Amino acid sequence: IRLLSVAAEMFPFVKTGGLGDVVGSLPHALAPYGVEVTTLLPGYPAVMAALFTRAQVMHHPDLLGHEATLWSAHVAGLDLLVLDVPALFDRPGNPYLAPEGQDWPDNGLRFAVLSRMAADIAQGRTPHPRPDLVQAHDWQAGLTAAYLHHDQQAAERGGQPVATRVPVVQTIHNLAFQGRFPAQCLAEFGLPPEAFSVEGCECYGAISFLKAGLYHADRITTVSPSYAQEIQTPEGGMGLDGLLRHRGDRLEGILNGISTETWNPASDPAVHFPYMVGDTVGRAPNKRDLQAEFGLWADPDAFVVGVVSRLTAQKGIDLLADVTPRLLAGNTQLIVVGEGDREIERRLASLQRQFPGRFACHLGYSESLGHRLPSAVDALLIPSRFEPCGLTQLGALRYGAVPVAARVGGLADTIVNANPAAIAQGAATGFLFTPVDGETLLATVARARQFYRRNRHMWRQLQLTGAAYDVSWNDKAAHYVRLFAEMLGMDTGGRA
Ligand code: ADP
Ligand code: GLC
Repeated sequence: IRLLSVAAEMFPFVKTGGLGDVVGSLPHALAPYGVEVTTLLPGYPAVMAALFTRAQVMHHPDLLGHEATLWSAHVAGLDLLVLDVPALFDRPGNPYLAPEGQDWPDNGLRFAVLSRMAADIAQGRTPHPRPDLVQAHDWQAGLTAAYLHHDQQAAERGGQPVATRVPVVQTIHNLAFQGRFPAQCLAEFGLPPEAFSVEGCECYGAISFLKAGLYHADRITTVSPSYAQEIQTPEGGMGLDGLLRHRGDRLEGILNGISTETWNPASDPAVHFPYMVGDTVGRAPNKRDLQAEFGLWADPDAFVVGVVSRLTAQKGIDLLADVTPRLLAGNTQLIVVGEGDREIERRLASLQRQFPGRFACHLGYSESLGHRLPSAVDALLIPSRFEPCGLTQLGALRYGAVPVAARVGGLADTIVNANPAAIAQGAATGFLFTPVDGETLLATVARARQFYRRNRHMWRQLQLTGAAYDVSWNDKAAHYVRLFAEMLGMDTGGRA
């Protein structure tokens, strides 16, 4: 199966969150099943710089009004198609934001161009071999299915021979980001007037890229079974629950995995004192080392809680800031690594001044701290208001940090709460809480701390059960392969 994956970010070239991790690691996981993934990415400076050898696929003098070049390259074991449109992508900042932190005003056009190119490739309009299937990730790739639909309609009207349309799976990593732009942009995006309809791209009076994808795609996936349910309710549907319920029989949740090669505490260069998965004793020096690195009191009995997160309301970091002074009671230390909302960053910086030796933060992005923290802290806290899947709990489980998390989305699906029955069964791996508010967060950290202090043997059992939980891509990749085969009307012969 030849799959064209279309995304706005991909690790190790460019990443702002879990989307980049998934887009970068899923191709490796699918390869053993004979799925050959080529990923279409925008040519941001970081991506262009990574293309040591590249071949020009085509030059496009006018892709929605801009001069574009499509490059193909094989880098870090990944097959890439890079859409180089200097006027749109050769910019500083991250894929979506200018260095000052606001959205680029032309984000609509930037990602319309990406989807337009994806649709051209899918129809064999470029020298690149036509794929069997397209996976469109999040809103940035949402127009792909819409272009394919309208191109086919135009061909039918024009009496041209109509090839069978390449099937599209639209994957939702986060329904909160929908890519909404004013109706007047329709022509600029190269969409025909009839596209602006409830049966199409229109959504509450605007053009919505994600809604277009959800409407036109053959199948929809999201990144956990619980999130697949949550987004079909008014509470979690962000205005799209009606459409998602309507398409419920085409929608499924497939959990994310992480690369167990990258996430190996015995060989991870970010882990200062390497240890084998499940070795809770060999792990211990990392805690001391991290306390020193962050200027926290060198106390082996302190209960050290870590956070690695975008600092946003989704992640509940504002709730954490509200209760931090009380959370530090009972000899608790807290380390936060993250960047995001400027107001949350300001509050965390001020807490650090207020509670030296007990609270520390690193405001910024650090891939290495993202790995070092779970190798060292006692518990990893994830107080998300919603979480489509979440990846940090997977790294935590594997590295022996006990997750303390909100009972939402993928967190609820990957962590087994330490209630008496789960403990008796030896199934518990962490602590889940609901409702997601400051008091419940505080009470749950206190519950975990009490557990840690009074019952070290049981704590170790949580770590061991967590380390044995399968965080890899194995079963999840097989699930994708079954879906792809179904979409193509193929028989996997029980291989997936
Ligand atoms: P989301 O995609 O919503 O941000 P995920 O948990 O799926 O949440 O993925 C976040 C990814 O980004 C994880 O790999 C996490 O370790 C990483 N990450 C987030 N913030 C930082 C940061 N400030 N420094 C390093 N890694 C980070
Ligand atoms: C999104 C979600 C996160 C998920 C990630 C990768 O960023 O917020 O929960 O793990 O995508 O699918």
